[in-house]
Amino acid sequence: MPDTPGLFISFEGIDGAGKSTHIEAIQRALEATGREVLCTREPGGTPLAEHIREMVLHTTMDPLSEVLLVFAARRDHLLHCIAPALRRGAVVLCDRFSDASFAYQSAGRGCPWEVLQTLEAWVMGAAGAPADADGHPHPMPHTTLWFDLPPSVAAQRLALARVPDRFESQPQAFFEQVAQGYARRCVEDPRRFVRINADQPAEVVRRDVLQAMALRGYLPA
Ligand code: TYD
Repeated sequence: MPDTPGLFISFEGIDGAGKSTHIEAIQRALEATGREVLCTREPGGTPLAEHIREMVLHTTMDPLSEVLLVFAARRDHLLHCIAPALRRGAVVLCDRFSDASFAYQSAGRGCPWEVLQTLEAWVMGAAGAPADADGHPHPMPHTTLWFDLPPSVAAQRLALARVPDRFESQPQAFFEQVAQGYARRCVEDPRRFVRINADQPAEVVRRDVLQAMALRGYLPA
């Protein structure tokens, strides 16, 4: 698979893990090196995918419908936002990507892991589906920062936060399963994953995140 000149980094973790704050810090640090940085999110990132986000976050539906919608959103996002940015050499910082579907829709909601693997291969263009303009498959993230936090701690944080969406209002047991889904994805692709211990003060997590970026050669040491 030909690689792109850009850099693709995704951010994952259960709700309440605190990844959004750290994405901003990484954006600033990367921009200071002179690179173009595109911050985006899933579900979402294009007009169609943002419509789908509204549906998925606020409408009750069965797990397979949910999976089909999040992968449809991902396909549009890849084609119209992520792939063009990578081709022009940008750094794409994506708040969640397909690991979230495995964690939430499979581990959390019970949709078979294999169904998601098939959909992922199709959406990424690795299973015969059209991919980018030159027919190449889309790249998976080069690195995924996984903010790992015990679900009991996340629940305490969420209780103090804003009005919850459909996922944030799930019981702690749901997030225990989601966390196991992330752990499984990490085992399946250890080179892509960097586990960040998110159960620490924010400034320590920030230091670890920036250190991980430097270790991968994305920021000066
Ligand atoms: P989140 O990323 O936490 O955004 P915000 O900080 O604005 O609340 O919310 C997105 C929610 O969508 C989160 O609960 C996880 C869920 N989700 C899935 O269930 N499947 C997916 O494939 C993706 C990308 C997200």
